[in-house]
Amino acid sequence: MDISVKIGDILEGEVIDINYEGGGVVKKDNFTIFLDKGLIGDIVKYRVVKVKKTYGIGKLLDIIKPSDHRIPSICNTSEECGGCPFQFFKYTNQLKWKEEKVKKDIEKIGRLDANIVKHIIGMEEPYRYRNNVQIPVGFKDGEIAIGFYESGSYNIANMSNCVIQTEISNEIIKTIKNFMKEYNLKPYDRKNKTGNIRHIGIRTNENNKAMVIIVTGSRNLPYSKELIRILTENFKDIISIYQNINSGNGPVVYGKKFKKLYGEDKIVDCIGDLKFSISPNSFFQVNRVQTKILYDKVKEYMDLKSEDIIFDLYCGIGTISLYMARQAKKVYGVEIVEEAIKDARENAHLNNIENVEFICGSSEKILPELKEKGIKVDKIVVDPPRKGCEKQVLDTIIEMNPERIVYVSCNPSTLARDLKHLSESVYKVKEIQLLDMFPGSIHTECVVRIERA
Ligand SMILES: C[S@@+](CC[C@H](N)C(=O)[O-])C[C@H]1O[C@@H](n2cnc3c(N)ncnc32)[C@H](O)[C@@H]1O
Repeated sequence: MDISVKIGDILEGEVIDINYEGGGVVKKDNFTIFLDKGLIGDIVKYRVVKVKKTYGIGKLLDIIKPSDHRIPSICNTSEECGGCPFQFFKYTNQLKWKEEKVKKDIEKIGRLDANIVKHIIGMEEPYRYRNNVQIPVGFKDGEIAIGFYESGSYNIANMSNCVIQTEISNEIIKTIKNFMKEYNLKPYDRKNKTGNIRHIGIRTNENNKAMVIIVTGSRNLPYSKELIRILTENFKDIISIYQNINSGNGPVVYGKKFKKLYGEDKIVDCIGDLKFSISPNSFFQVNRVQTKILYDKVKEYMDLKSEDIIFDLYCGIGTISLYMARQAKKVYGVEIVEEAIKDARENAHLNNIENVEFICGSSEKILPELKEKGIKVDKIVVDPPRKGCEKQVLDTIIEMNPERIVYVSCNPSTLARDLKHLSESVYKVKEIQLLDMFPGSIHTECVVRIERA
C-alpha cells in the first residue's frame, strides 16, 4: 500500500467506527488510523503519532463537529478517563454498536450465520453497577490522584464521582486520598520502588457493605492503625480491610500476599436466592443485576434434567455450578485459583447444596483427567477468561461428546474463534444471547447454546 500519511501530520476526518480499545477509527485515502478517542459520526482533527505498514495511530486534537450520537456525559472525568469510552454515547447506540460488533466477529471469525445472535439485553439504569473496582494511585500535576488511566497511557484521570461505581466506593476513595495527604503517604513508584500505595480495591455487596483492599509496593503501610480508624469511623458499612503486597513491575494489580487488617475474611453477596462468600482475590461477576439474567439464561440453555451430570469449567467461586445444582444429578466445577475453589466449597455449604464437587487445577489438565476416570458428562458450561478456551479443552470436550455445551464469554473475538472450532466437529451453534454487563465500556457478555448434531 502506498502510504500518504506521515508522523506529525495534522489531519481531519470522520470517525467511522470504534476500535477494540474504545477509540475512534478514521480513514485517510483508505489507510486506517486508530485514534485514542472519538465517537462514530464525529468530524475530528487529529495528529498522526505512529505509522505502521497497515495502519496508523493518531491523537485526537479537536472535535470539529460532534456526532448526532453524542450526549453530555454525567461523569465529570469522562474527558480524560479511559475507563468508560462510551459515556458520551447514547445508551441505545452503545447497545446497537455492541450487537453489531458481536455479529461481525461471529460472521468473520466464527464463519457462522449472524442471525443466530439475539438482541442484546441492556440495563434499565446503566450506572452504579460495578460491585468491584481496582483503582490506580499516582500523581497528577504534582498532587495525589486516584482514578482510572487515561486512554492509551498510564496517566491517571483524577476521578471524583465515578458513575459506574457505587456511592460508598467513591466516598471511600476520597477518604483514602485525604488520609494520604494528611499523613504524607505517597503513591508507590514502580520504577524507583519508593512510596507506599499503588492501588485501591473495593468490593461492595447488595446491601452496600464494603471490603477495602489497600495495595502497597512493600510490606510497609505506615499509619495503618490510623487508616483503619478513619475508614471504620467514617463508614459503618466497611466490613473488611485488607493490605495486599505487590512489589512486581507488571500490570497485575494484586500480589500474592493478602494481609487482613480489619473485620471479616470475606464479603457475602447474593445472586437470586443463593449466597456467595467471596475472598478478596476471587472472581465474581461485576454487575449483579445482569448476572442474574446471565445465569438464568445459562440454565435455560442447559435444559437441565434431574439425571444430568454437568461440568462447569472455569467455575470461579462456584456460582454457576450452584445455580444449576438443584436441577441436576451432580455438578463438577473446575477452577485454577485455589482460594476461589475454597470459596466454592464454602458456598456449597452456605447454600446446603451437596451434589457438587469442586476441583482445583487448570481446565486443560483436569478435564482430560476426568475423561480418563471414565466420568460420563451430559452437559458442559465453559466461562473462560478473555483469552477463551485452550484448544486442548475444546478437543477434550468434543471427545467427551456431551449433549450440550453452553459457552459464556466476555470476549466476542475469542468466542468466535472457539465456536468455529466446535462447529467444525459434531456440534452446532444454535443461539447467542448478548447482555450488557459493562455499560459505558466497549465490552459485551455473550452466552451461547451449542448442541450435538
Ligand atoms: C470469567 S471468570 C468466570 C467465573 C464464574 N463462572 C462466574 O461466573 O463467576 C473465569 C474464571 O476462570 C478461571 N481460570 C482462568 N484460567 C483458567 C484455567 N486455565 N482453568 C480453569 N480456570 C481458569 C479464573 O480464575 C476465573 O475464576
